[in-house]
Amino acid sequence: MPQQRKSMHGEWSSRWAFILAATGSAVGLGNIWKFPYITGENGGGAFVLVYLACIAIVGIPIMMAEVMLGRRGRHSPINTMRLLAQESGRSPAWQLLGWGGVLAGFIILSFYSVIAGWALAYVLEAASGAFVGGEADRIGALFGGLLGNPVTLISWHTIFMAMTVFVVARGVEKGLERAVRVLMPALFALLLLLVGYAMNSGYFTDGLAFLFKPDFSKISAEGVLIALGHAFFTLSLGMGAIMVYGAYLPQKASIATTTVTIAAADTLVALLAGMAIFPIVFANGLEPGAGPGLIFQTLPIAFGQMPGGLLFGTLFFVLLSFAAWTSGISLLEPAVAWLVENRGLSRVVATVGCGGIIWLLGLASALSFNIWSDFTLFGKTIFDNLDFLASNIMLPLGGLLIALFAAWLLPRAISHDELAMREEGTYALWLFMVRYITPVGVSLVFLNAIGLI
Ligand code: PFF
Repeated sequence: MPQQRKSMHGEWSSRWAFILAATGSAVGLGNIWKFPYITGENGGGAFVLVYLACIAIVGIPIMMAEVMLGRRGRHSPINTMRLLAQESGRSPAWQLLGWGGVLAGFIILSFYSVIAGWALAYVLEAASGAFVGGEADRIGALFGGLLGNPVTLISWHTIFMAMTVFVVARGVEKGLERAVRVLMPALFALLLLLVGYAMNSGYFTDGLAFLFKPDFSKISAEGVLIALGHAFFTLSLGMGAIMVYGAYLPQKASIATTTVTIAAADTLVALLAGMAIFPIVFANGLEPGAGPGLIFQTLPIAFGQMPGGLLFGTLFFVLLSFAAWTSGISLLEPAVAWLVENRGLSRVVATVGCGGIIWLLGLASALSFNIWSDFTLFGKTIFDNLDFLASNIMLPLGGLLIALFAAWLLPRAISHDELAMREEGTYALWLFMVRYITPVGVSLVFLNAIGLI
């Protein structure tokens, strides 16, 4: 077995730095924007339960596998897969997994950046007092006005992409650790404040019942696939983002503990967001299935009505933009790391090039909210199709292949050595999960969604 490798892109300064960076990647629009709106669209409690099961049964074991492969390979996901396939005597075609991840990352970042642009736009709206009073109609019209204006959407999308390119071009470990350490707890505190507001809305129990009382007649086969896809999306799995961060993880750090910490923090943030939003939805007679605009049509009502709402509202959208930023960075890093390793490009050139392509692709999503909103395929807009393809098909498929490679093809001595679990039983449990439960679970959901079972 070759010696453990070193990364040419640097290393996190400690286990904590990795936890913070990976939490920064995991916690983002997925938790605060996407989780509530897809929960609303898919009927609530049953969807949440399936999503939680997917996190525990599929997400955590695959996250451990991804971090483990990344740290063993110490390169971009494409080269890590190539090196580990070689080390395990397997086909070099396994590097295609890395390529699929780069493609998924480009697609996700293209629409992610447009939505992050909404959050940036709302920083100014909040600060200018546009939410004051918080009447549901006016808040709805404000959001409609934003969506209807392609120039504004594209401008904010451009700003978000420029911010992301700026950090990745400098190298991800600089500054990320310090920023996440302060801003994540602040976001968490503001979510608690919003939950506190929701508790006093008079509809808190309705919100909780919607979130936590499962009614399985309300969830479809496609809903189950969306819950699975979201488990991947929210934990940044299946496309190499966590793998590339794992590549910069110090050798001593325990992978199991770090993974569970990250998954727990991520899930908590999503549930808090749900607990803040649904009581406001019901209190104001809004529609839980309102779609991607849900948080932008609900939270401003709360900020508009609460004391100090101007400050808290502004701060909230600043922190949401920040959370999106630390996720966007991790979507771009795998491709950039590969270009630096293989093409000898400077980080700056590689990042600007990738950022440009993603920006261009993002225009399609931005326009699908206004002038191209009638252009649909399979009954979905361009944005919906890109999200569905990347989140619900490419990420679970990538995760399935990662699990199969880590569990069946990589020599056990390597996974055992990297995971270095204190208890033999924990390693055996992980191996059992990634060998059988995870692949069977993901396959069943796919087969179910296409109507074969
Ligand atoms: N996990 C991020 C979120 O929940 O907002 C989004 C994301 C980041 C997805 C990185 C995939 C990824 F590789």
